[in-house]
Amino acid sequence: MATSYSHESIERLKEQIDIVEVVANAISLKKTGANYKACCPFHGEKTPSFVVSPDKQIFKCFGCGVSGDAIEFVRKFYNLDFVEAIEKIAKDQGFTLERTKYDDSRDVYYRANKDAARYFVRSLLSKPNVAMDYLLEKRKLSHEMITKFGIGYADEKWSSLYNHMKALGYGDETLAELGLISIKGGKKYDRFRNRVMFPIISTSGKVIGFGGRALDDDGAKYINSPENPIFHKSNNLFALNFAREYLRKEDYLIVVEGYMDVIGLFQYGVGNVTATLGTALTENHGKILKRYAKKVILSYDADEAGRKAAYKGVDILRSAGVEVSVLHVDDGKDPDEYVKLHGKEGFLKLLSKSVSGTDYQLRHIARGIDLQTDEGKIRYIRDIAPVFEKLSPVEREVYAQKVGRGLKLDYNNILSQVGKERTDHRERPTRREENVASREMTATEKVLLKIIFMDSSYFVKLREHRFADSAIKTDLAKEILNLIQGEFSESDGFIDEKKIKDAMDPADGVKLDNIIKGVPVVDVEQTFRDCMRTSGLAELLEQEKRLLDVIAIADEEEQSQEGEKLQLKLMDVQKEIKKLRGGLGL
Ligand code: CTP
Ligand code: MN
Repeated sequence: MATSYSHESIERLKEQIDIVEVVANAISLKKTGANYKACCPFHGEKTPSFVVSPDKQIFKCFGCGVSGDAIEFVRKFYNLDFVEAIEKIAKDQGFTLERTKYDDSRDVYYRANKDAARYFVRSLLSKPNVAMDYLLEKRKLSHEMITKFGIGYADEKWSSLYNHMKALGYGDETLAELGLISIKGGKKYDRFRNRVMFPIISTSGKVIGFGGRALDDDGAKYINSPENPIFHKSNNLFALNFAREYLRKEDYLIVVEGYMDVIGLFQYGVGNVTATLGTALTENHGKILKRYAKKVILSYDADEAGRKAAYKGVDILRSAGVEVSVLHVDDGKDPDEYVKLHGKEGFLKLLSKSVSGTDYQLRHIARGIDLQTDEGKIRYIRDIAPVFEKLSPVEREVYAQKVGRGLKLDYNNILSQVGKERTDHRERPTRREENVASREMTATEKVLLKIIFMDSSYFVKLREHRFADSAIKTDLAKEILNLIQGEFSESDGFIDEKKIKDAMDPADGVKLDNIIKGVPVVDVEQTFRDCMRTSGLAELLEQEKRLLDVIAIADEEEQSQEGEKLQLKLMDVQKEIKKLRGGLGL
């Protein structure tokens, strides 16, 4: 199956579709004047406020506010992603979409992963082995779950998979890029050995990567596929392909930490559950989650790492516009253990006790502060100011009252105090913050954007680059990259320039247009490297200056141990500066 399609081809399809026909295929429409009307399929109503306009080729519900074009309708109504939606429309219209060259080259990766997944499954099922014993006896997984999740086994030999894949005709480079084999000093060997293999499947049903859990204490507990042309950890979530089927019944998603938590909960009938792929939640995960559910319950492990991750997760989900609450299991170490001890009912009962994201953050900050003392109370009020900063005025009042009741303080004082902390904070913006707030992009940012629109694979390269934060600083550049990120995940790496401009403020759209049309770039790779090098160098020089400052202070304070540590750091930074300068020919 094709993965994404040429820009021209999609445009031609868009021109030929009629939204009235597309919507009428799904629900019955009534003509009223120039438009068509129906009861909105996206919220319950008795009098029709859902309107389809043949002139404008859009739909709009005046009850719940949803609107969009024909593709948006198909996506929402059938719960599909962008590519799936255009595939469905094309099929209904008898239209043949053309693939882009870029995607043809990615097909081989999908096929290779699928063949590898099949191989791992066969290894698990064909004869008795430690992995099967582990899954059935130690983890008490059912055969049904093992099959449903496509769990497999990578045996302990060094080239079982490699030989198999070679025989199927896959090249070393493809296998290495997918992280199925490692190549060191010309030697090729299986990267996953003696591990239970969890295939990671995209919402469109493709095997995009693997997580391999160790069966012994050798090496890391998990090895995951590296980022590659088909595997982007921040664009995907584990088992979302299954979880979304449950979202017709439930309107919330549970996000857990581990693959085993997802599978464990599934086995007990809790299916609206997903997990990240061994990384923290990102802004982009927030956007994806928002597409699928109004509400997210974070159910991370009860340890310190899980608490910290949940705290950050609340911020990310809140800024993505998702309603969020949090719960930690109070028995066993994670949701997987909990559901095995208490069953589905027990877990659901626990879920009903989850607390709102804000309550969670306020409680988290209270940990380790003695709120009985005056100093404790003062510190607490100071520390919670950043939480209040992100709330709406009404929420601020509600939570200030709550905190006031708890501390036996007048809530008005709390409100003005957290407000004060906030303005204090704002009055002293650092240089960096000033920079960030600007809407005038730097020359580097412009060139980088141009490069991304010339070749979308540079979007991933930039995102993963260690100097990305030094290169991209202004608000506007960040916003554009966020839009690209959204587009990118929806359409499997295809960047629709027009859609991005449409989503922007018109004045900003013009700026972007000028960049795309006006910034000259000849050698893309070379220019990209130069941009990143210059940005990195600026960052490192600033680090050097900061380090020299603190080292001076450490000396003054006779903190020799600390000073030594800082000296070592400084040497590293200076070494890097030298290296980058060499590369720039300075
Ligand atoms: N993880 C990882 N690399 C590691 C450890 C963990 O990528 N070295 C990721 C995996 O995605 C894992 C998740 O973090 O699923 C949670 O880690 P952990 O709780 O240790 O693993 P579980 O899957 O819950 O496995 P188990 O129940 O066996 O502890
Ligand atoms: Mn776990």
